[in-house]
Amino acid sequence: MADKKAQLIIEGAAPVELPILTGTVGPEVIDVRTLTASGRFTFDPGFMSTASCESKITYIDGDKGILLHRGYPIEQLAEKSDYLETCYLLLNGELPNAEQKAQFVSTVKNHTMVHEQLKTFFNGFRRDAHPMAIMCGVVGALSAFYHDSLDIKNPQHREISAIRLIAKMPTLAAMVYKYSMGQPMMYPRNDLSYAENFLHMMFNTPCEIKPISPVLARAMDRIFILHADHEQNASTSTVRLAGSSGANPFACIAAGIAALWGPAHGGANEAVLSMLDEIGDVSNIDKYIAKAKDKDDPFKLMGFGHRVYKNFDPRATVMKQTCDEVLAELGIKNDPQLELAMRLDEIARNDPYFKERNLYPNVDFYSGIILKAIGIPTSMFTVIFALARTVGWISHWKEMLSSPYKIGRPRQLYTGETQRDVKDLETR
Ligand code: SDX
Repeated sequence: MADKKAQLIIEGAAPVELPILTGTVGPEVIDVRTLTASGRFTFDPGFMSTASCESKITYIDGDKGILLHRGYPIEQLAEKSDYLETCYLLLNGELPNAEQKAQFVSTVKNHTMVHEQLKTFFNGFRRDAHPMAIMCGVVGALSAFYHDSLDIKNPQHREISAIRLIAKMPTLAAMVYKYSMGQPMMYPRNDLSYAENFLHMMFNTPCEIKPISPVLARAMDRIFILHADHEQNASTSTVRLAGSSGANPFACIAAGIAALWGPAHGGANEAVLSMLDEIGDVSNIDKYIAKAKDKDDPFKLMGFGHRVYKNFDPRATVMKQTCDEVLAELGIKNDPQLELAMRLDEIARNDPYFKERNLYPNVDFYSGIILKAIGIPTSMFTVIFALARTVGWISHWKEMLSSPYKIGRPRQLYTGETQRDVKDLETR
């Protein structure tokens, strides 16, 4: 892949020649792995210009608003595929045929239950604990239950851990919700699809088992697809870094959940609803747009902007279509928060500040409105994101471990004190 070279001309030093690597599509990269020989590091806080790895899983073109999973556009997967097919694709590189799909679905179904002992972990949390706090705890605790599959160098162990995580996340997420409600936790059912099962475990009780709306199940499944993977985002990079030390997959996913929780990342869907509540009414939009533009005001328009997309986020487009379908199915007309969100979207898109900075609605802008309409509380929104993103995290973890890798260990630009001696206490 190295067919061109870059030459670094450094004043007073010999030039440094660096290979340029070319991928199948997207920007070339300058391979700086030999740069340390010149006694220098690259400097790139926030990794704005850094490719941390080579990957075949997801490609994003931020300028064109393109998102491909193993080459398939997200819009086509959302329309023609389902979440478990997308999981198979991300994990294995190809969409399953009918036989492969049946086998994969059956395997996942047979791993949806969690060890009964895991229920006792919940009792250590307050009922009003943030669901993401509990998810970090219980997902990390899974490594205490699977001593039979923690050898990350064993491909079979990697495979069964991936299946267990994909299968158990809906069960754990629903358990977190039931715990917060003080309701009995529901067991998964093997006669339901992945999304139906999740909604069953969330909203049914032992007293009454209601059928799951196929429209809501389809919408839930589509939301899972839209959140499945997104290249080297902050939480995926966290999972890769944790995995590079040889940590077990459950601990790595727990690290990803922690990173996702932040409002600048996966926590934005919850923050969008809080923001819409704070804005309250269309008449206040101008005031909040001004706050978002004010450098001295920490307020940002949550659900807007993206490190990579400098055009529309293709997931936001599909999410908005799904939002319309769900509200129609539920007979919700003129949802005040949707009205407010659409007006905010329209005003921001026409405001020079947002246009100049290419700030468009991202995946989180409309997702919260759908989740709330389905009956999922705001505090559970990022848990849904983590549930869906688990396949992306574990696919990147598997990809990294399947070929030679090194422990991630960045360096720094040191601007602290040079060496000095400790003075005795009396003389300080
Ligand atoms: C996700 O990486 C991924 O792929 C993430 C994700 C995934 O699927 O994994 O797509 C999921 O995390 C989506 C993003 C969700 N976060 C939000 O919606 C929070 C609001 N957005 C911002 O915090 C921000 O846009 C980020 C964090 C998403 C991106 O920040 P960057 O790339 O570091 O850009 P920046 O902060 O340098 O902003 C550039 C300019 C700045 O102004 P200037 O200094 O040029 O004058 O745009 C401004 C920022 O102040 N800006 C915003 C803004 N986002 C950026 N101003 C107001 N409101 C905003 N939302």
